[in-house]
Amino acid sequence: MKEERAFDYRSMFDLSGKTALVVGAGSGIGAASAHGLAAFGARVFCADLNGASAGETVREIEAQGGEGEALELDMRDTESVRAAAGKIGTTDVLVSTPSINVRKPLLEIGDEEFDRVMDLNLKGTFRLVREFGRGMADRGSGSIIAFSSIRAQVVEPGQGIYAATKAGTLQMFRALAAELGGRGVRVNVIAPGVVETPLTAQIKDNPEWYGAYADKSILGRWARPQEMVGAVVFLASEASSYVTGAFMLVDGGWTAADGRFAPPL
Ligand SMILES: NC(=O)c1ccc[n+]([C@@H]2O[C@H](COP(=O)([O-])OP(=O)(O)OC[C@H]3O[C@@H](n4cnc5c(N)ncnc54)[C@H](O)[C@@H]3O)[C@@H](O)[C@H]2O)c1
Repeated sequence: MKEERAFDYRSMFDLSGKTALVVGAGSGIGAASAHGLAAFGARVFCADLNGASAGETVREIEAQGGEGEALELDMRDTESVRAAAGKIGTTDVLVSTPSINVRKPLLEIGDEEFDRVMDLNLKGTFRLVREFGRGMADRGSGSIIAFSSIRAQVVEPGQGIYAATKAGTLQMFRALAAELGGRGVRVNVIAPGVVETPLTAQIKDNPEWYGAYADKSILGRWARPQEMVGAVVFLASEASSYVTGAFMLVDGGWTAADGRFAPPL
C-alpha cells in the first residue's frame, strides 16, 4: 500500500500515553483546554494559582473517565514554577493561559500596574517555558502552546500594556520555536478573539460593549471557551507535526474584515 494510504489518520489527534501541563486550568480557556486534552487521552496536570479551582477541574475530568492531577502554581514566582517542574518532571505538552488586563489609557498607567501585567503575562510565560522547555529540549520532543490574543495585532484604547504583552509573547515564541525546532520541540501561540470567561465578565455586564464586540467578528458572536480547544488539541498532537512558530487565530474572523461598514450588495 502507498505510504500515504497506510498512514493511520484516525490516530492523528490521539494523546494516549502523553502527559500535559495546563497552567490556568482552574478557569475559562485553561479549564476547557484541560478537559479537551484529557478527552483525547492525555494525563493532565491542572495547575492554577487557585489550587481549589484546579482541583475542581480534575474532579470533573475524572468524572468523565479522564486522568488528571491538580497543583497550585504561581507563574509570578520562579521558585513556584521550578518546584512544579521538579514535582511533575517534563511533560509532552505545556499550555500556558493566565493573563490579566488593566484597561486604562497609557498616560494614566502607573509603574506598579505596568509591572503587574508584564510580570504575569510575559515574564510568567517566560518562566514556564524556561523551566519546562529545557526538559523537552533535552528529551528531544514536546509541544509548547501559549495564549496570545488578537491584541498582538489589532488594538483599541485602553489595551496598551496588555497588547504589548500579547505581541511580546508572540515574538518570544517565534524565537523559541527557532531555537528549539532542531531539538524536536514545537512552539506555537493561539490568538483568540472574544471569549466568554471570567476575564471578560466586565464586558458582558455592559450590553452595549458586549454587543459591539459580538458584531465586530464575521461570525457575529462571542466564542465559548470550548471553541478554543480544537486548536489546543491540534497543536498538542501529531496532527500538527509540521506546525511551529505559528500564530493561530481563533477569532471568528475578527481580524479578517475591518467591519466599519457593510456596503449594500
Ligand atoms: N477571554 C477572552 O476573551 C480572551 C481573548 C483573547 C485572549 N485571551 C487569552 O486567553 C488566556 C486565558 O484567558 P481566560 O479568559 O481563560 O482567563 P481567566 O481569567 O478565565 O482564567 C485565568 C486563570 O489563570 C489563573 N491565574 C491567574 N494568575 C495566575 C498565576 N499567577 N499563576 C497561575 N495561574 C494564575 C486564574 O486563577 C484563572 O484560573 C489569557 O492569556 C487571555 O489573555 C482571552
